[in-house]
Amino acid sequence: MVALVPAAGRGLRLGADVPKAFARLRGRSLLSHAVGGLLGSGCVDRVVVAVGADDGALAEAALGDVTSQDASPQLVRQRVRLVIGGSERIDSVRAALDVVGGAEVILVHDAARCLVPLSVIRSVVEAVRAGHHAVIPVLPVADTVKQVDDSGVVIATVDRTALRVVQTPQAFEAGLLRRAYADAGGLATDDAGLVERLGQTVTTVPGHPHAFKITTAFDLTVAEALAGDR
Ligand code: C5P
Repeated sequence: MVALVPAAGRGLRLGADVPKAFARLRGRSLLSHAVGGLLGSGCVDRVVVAVGADDGALAEAALGDVTSQDASPQLVRQRVRLVIGGSERIDSVRAALDVVGGAEVILVHDAARCLVPLSVIRSVVEAVRAGHHAVIPVLPVADTVKQVDDSGVVIATVDRTALRVVQTPQAFEAGLLRRAYADAGGLATDDAGLVERLGQTVTTVPGHPHAFKITTAFDLTVAEALAGDR
């Protein structure tokens, strides 16, 4: 099992002095937590991380910080490959996909969702092994959702019962993900969206609140409070 980890975003909304994947959470970077979680899940053998062109040294340091409970430092370095990402997330995932080599199942996981519970990683993997071709973790929408016009006036209250917010890791039969990326044009905010454009079925499994994407300084404060549970 291979996991692709896009970690090349600048993360300007976080306001840190380093790209978001290298912001510190309980003494190590978000990327270090994310890679440690994937390797520690027991279902990921190899990881390809896409980082910014200038971030090689930061990335090497992050891999050096993956804790021994996840895997020995030598093993981490053998199992993780770094590539240079692109200007959009889709470009970073594509760069990782280009070097991945043979794999039957590919996970794609945001470095910024570094506290995803191991149970979520395992459940997307199990679902894809059970025969689903594309599997994503989701949560119901807790808040009321409204559609507004350009000036902020409410047009409608959206029925939230069928809405889901989407997390990572997303798991794909490798050939399907490659076809989705071969056809990809324009922007997509997640990988399953590209699979949907091929007309293929995407299956959901329950996500987890701890798999939230760290975007702002507020999120990092929440993550600090949660990180001890990992
Ligand atoms: O910016 P956002 O948090 O939505 O990005 C989601 C993930 O995609 C992050 O882990 C980020 O590092 C990654 N990304 C990337 N290359 C980009 C933009 C984002 O790898 N050009």
